[in-house]
This record gives sequence, structure tokens and C-alpha cells, in this order.
Amino acid sequence: MTDNEKLGLQRRIGCLGVIVTLAVGGVLVATRCEKNPASPPPVETIPTFAETQTEPASTAITEETVQTSASPTEAQTTAAPETERNAEIPPETARPVETLPPTEAQTQAETTAQTAAETAAQTVAAAENSGEWALQLVNSTHPLPEHFDTELIRLRNGVNVDSRIYPDLQEMFDDMRAQGMYPFVREGFRTREYQQEVMDTRISEYIAQGYGEEEARSLAADYVAKPGTSEHELGLAIDINAEDGTDSWTVYSWLAAHAYEYGFILRYPEGKEDITGISYEPWHYRYVGKEAAAEIYEQGVTLEEYLGE
Ligand code: DAL
Ligand code: ZN
Repeated sequence: MTDNEKLGLQRRIGCLGVIVTLAVGGVLVATRCEKNPASPPPVETIPTFAETQTEPASTAITEETVQTSASPTEAQTTAAPETERNAEIPPETARPVETLPPTEAQTQAETTAQTAAETAAQTVAAAENSGEWALQLVNSTHPLPEHFDTELIRLRNGVNVDSRIYPDLQEMFDDMRAQGMYPFVREGFRTREYQQEVMDTRISEYIAQGYGEEEARSLAADYVAKPGTSEHELGLAIDINAEDGTDSWTVYSWLAAHAYEYGFILRYPEGKEDITGISYEPWHYRYVGKEAAAEIYEQGVTLEEYLGE
């Protein structure tokens, strides 16, 4: 073999090596892409109970600012919702909710939120020892106490909740997202005035559907607590919905099975309407702390039964 022939052979072997390397690399990349899609595949969204959403909901609850208040009166003043969100509407009348990505301003709030989350975590740890605040019973026969402490934290989508429930709420949402679900808090703390608005809206809707006023009031009361008797006014109750792209019942089922691990209970279960006075609400969760939530879940009881009321 001449020198020229040897050189030609070496070049051909070199090219073959490059081709083989590229081919193997391509297969590996393709495999990786298939196994790790950039985003989870979309799933069908079952409409929930939102009818008149007028502000965007967020996909996360981590970027927040804090509002505090020493008394319900102050909390109600500072935390009044700017726009009407119409919750407590049964699923069958619902439509899905539009969502938007976070804004720059929301991102800037991250540092504050981190501090708030740390503070809230300490508060929870301390309060968990007393446990009393988390077990406050509020229902039609147990109206809101005249005085109670509320320290609110504002979620990224403008919804307020008691800051003591925030760390567990965040952890629960983080875990849900890690499993491909995208929930958001549609409703949290409500002022008494806002609770009245929710009630009035619901009554009007039934009247618009042709019911008489008395019947409309009665139907509305199946899902909406009379102002002054809603645990939303405590800041310890949340309504959880699925973002577009996540199936609502997937979220509800997961919550029913796991929310107790994070201190939340399904507050109005199916079949317990005679005890709670409220129809089944798969979206409404109440924070009671991890210990009580586990006991309530294991015993299959309502908060009323658990507290012996
Ligand atoms: N949906 C619950 C009962 C409330 O209005 O507080
Ligand atoms: Zn609710």
C-alpha cells in the first residue's frame, strides 16, 4: 500500500468514526428528550366552579407580600379583595379560568416572600404547640368569635390567607407540582362584606335561573355560609382549583387522599351534609394542623365530630 493509499484509508476510517459518534449521540439525545419532555403533556380540564373571574390566577404561590393585622377589623380593611371572584359555585355551572405568567413586579416580591415564609414557619411551629387557633370551629351555630388574631399573607394572585398555614400550603403545592398537577388557591380569606357579596351573587344567579327568592336563598346556603359564620373569614379555609391543563378531579382526588399530610382537611365531605350543613365541596380545604388533620382523616369524621360539637 502506498503512502497516499494509507492516508486515504486513515481519512475514511476517521470519517466513519465521526459518523458513528454523531449517530450514537443523536440516538442518546433523542432518548433523553423523549424521557424528559420540557413540559408535562396537557390534560383535559374539567370546568370547575368559577364563573366570573376578573383577574388572572397565578401558577404558583411563592412570590408574595405580607399584610398583617392585629384584629379582624383591620384585616378586613387592608385585605379587601379588589375584584369580585365568584367562588362557591357548584362544579356543574362552572367554566375554566384563564391564567397568566408572573409579572416582573411579582418576581421582585420574592425576597420579601422568603422572609415572610421563614417568619410564618416559626409562627406555625410555635402555635402548633398550643394548637388552639387551628381548631377554631366556625359554622352556622358557631359564628366567628368577636376577637381573633389574623396575620395575613398575600399570595401572588392577590388572595390572602392566614400566614400560619402558608408553609404547609406551599409544601403541598410544591409536591403536587412535582407530580404534574397545577393547583391554585382561588379563594382564601374573605371579609364579612365579601362573604355577603358571594352570598348575594349566588342568590341572584338562582333567581336568574327562575327560582323564587326564598328557594334561591335556601339553595345558596347549601354552598355559601352566612356572613359571620364562614371559616373563610378566619383565613384558615382555602378553595383549591386546577389551572388550565390540569384535570380538576385529579386535583380533588389527590387532595382528598393527601391534604391531611400537610394539615388540611376536606371540610365538607359527601354524606356529612347533615352535620356540616353544607353540600359536598371537593375544593374547600380547612387548615387544622397536621396532628388533628391526620386524626380527622383516619377517623373519617368532620371537624364538628372531632371537636365533639
Ligand atoms: N363555602 C363555605 C361553606 C363558605 O362559604 O364558607
Ligand atoms: Zn370555600
